[in-house]
Amino acid sequence: MAEAEIGVIGLGVMGANLALNIADNGYHVAVYNRTASRTEAFAASAGDLSDRITACATLEEFVAAIRPPRPLIIMVKAGEPVDQQIAALKPLLEANDIIIDAGNANFRDTMRRFADLEGSGITFIGMGVSGGEEGARRGPSIMVGGAEEAWKRVEPVLTAISAKYQGEPCAAWLGENGAGHFVKTIHNGIEYADMQMIAEVYGVMRDHLSMDAATIAAVFSGWSTGPLDSYLIDITAEVLRVNDAATGRPIVDIIVDAAGQKGTGRWSVIESQMMGVPATAIEAAVAARSLSAMLEQRAQAQQRFGLPQQQDQRNGQLVIDDLEKALLAGKVAAYAQGFAVMAAASEEFGWNLPMATIARIWRAGCIIRSRFLDEIATAFTQDPEVPNLALTPSFSKMILDTDLCLRRIVAEAALNGLPVPALASALGYFDTYRRERGTANLIQAQRDFFGAHGFGRLDAEGEHHGPWGG
Ligand code: 6PG
Repeated sequence: MAEAEIGVIGLGVMGANLALNIADNGYHVAVYNRTASRTEAFAASAGDLSDRITACATLEEFVAAIRPPRPLIIMVKAGEPVDQQIAALKPLLEANDIIIDAGNANFRDTMRRFADLEGSGITFIGMGVSGGEEGARRGPSIMVGGAEEAWKRVEPVLTAISAKYQGEPCAAWLGENGAGHFVKTIHNGIEYADMQMIAEVYGVMRDHLSMDAATIAAVFSGWSTGPLDSYLIDITAEVLRVNDAATGRPIVDIIVDAAGQKGTGRWSVIESQMMGVPATAIEAAVAARSLSAMLEQRAQAQQRFGLPQQQDQRNGQLVIDDLEKALLAGKVAAYAQGFAVMAAASEEFGWNLPMATIARIWRAGCIIRSRFLDEIATAFTQDPEVPNLALTPSFSKMILDTDLCLRRIVAEAALNGLPVPALASALGYFDTYRRERGTANLIQAQRDFFGAHGFGRLDAEGEHHGPWGG
């Protein structure tokens, strides 16, 4: 008899933990993994929860184990494996069954899958899930895209398994089709920027102030009681305190500095460029990861050029105080950019993305969870249509309060040859954004000179051309 209320396909760490989380919340869940041994191992390790888990050896058995209309979560590697899974499921499903792709899909693939399933009777949901392994098990942040009626049907289980911020579930329906995966992509873009700026600040402390890992950890811990209070600051402090068992050295000191990336950061940047909404801090973070991976060239370049000579150093504590505020300023830029990209996408794809809700469901469970997001939620609740977070009263104040510190840090880093590309791009963004009369008049003159592209005049309407070449 079909007794499961929901199914999970893909028992990697994320899928397995989601399934356990679902069972833990009182739901009966059917599970299936292409490699049967993994399903068996999962079932064997489910302990007390095994009463509410039906482990299935075949996809047919899996579908039959779930009460129709069936909600089925797919948690497999993004890309081709999702298409293969949908194709395998399709002939086995009935009208009104819901396939929920919970992986880090590119929202354009999600849009295509919606279009492909249209008219099949099968419903689709593209669902962003953030929080890593622990989040999946204990409560992730859940970003849902699809038909609102489909969301209504799965809302009870998804809100039950989601993280809670002061009792409020961190799961929400954000809009039609690709909305959930788009928002998750931007979440990850912001995550890249957040991580990169923390790493830059760490670099200034390590390479400019010659601080060791444990001392830097103490600084980050101190910051977690202030406006930077966040999961990423907390884990940074924790990571910096861990010593390697084999060498006794701080483990960060023996980790190769070449960062991996699976694509979501890059997609954020591509989409932001496509929409003409700059996300320079995210862009700098993605580029920094790519540059970090060029280990051999970097070693050659250091041999060729050496490192810039260190300038006279300011009092260390003054630098550290500036770093805290510079990081906050950089964070404002990254979030302002990320939310501006979402606003443009909302317009372009007709999603009507609820910005305050997005900030609210990011306050717990996800990787970028922080006190800061509560302030963003408040700012968007007060002014849902504001074109840029920087223009809200609370964030304007934050920018003005931190501006000089960001400036000093970027200047100091530049003079000492310390790379702070994301912080520097945040400063460049603010300085460009806040200046009414910039320098694009010259670009327009150049464009008109070589291509007769035309320009506007300050003193007249319409398009004009310059008297170039006599
Ligand atoms: C999350 C994380 C999660 C994952 C990313 C990391 O929100 O839970 O962002 O999605 O860790 O895949 O991406 P990179 O491998 O590109 O850093």
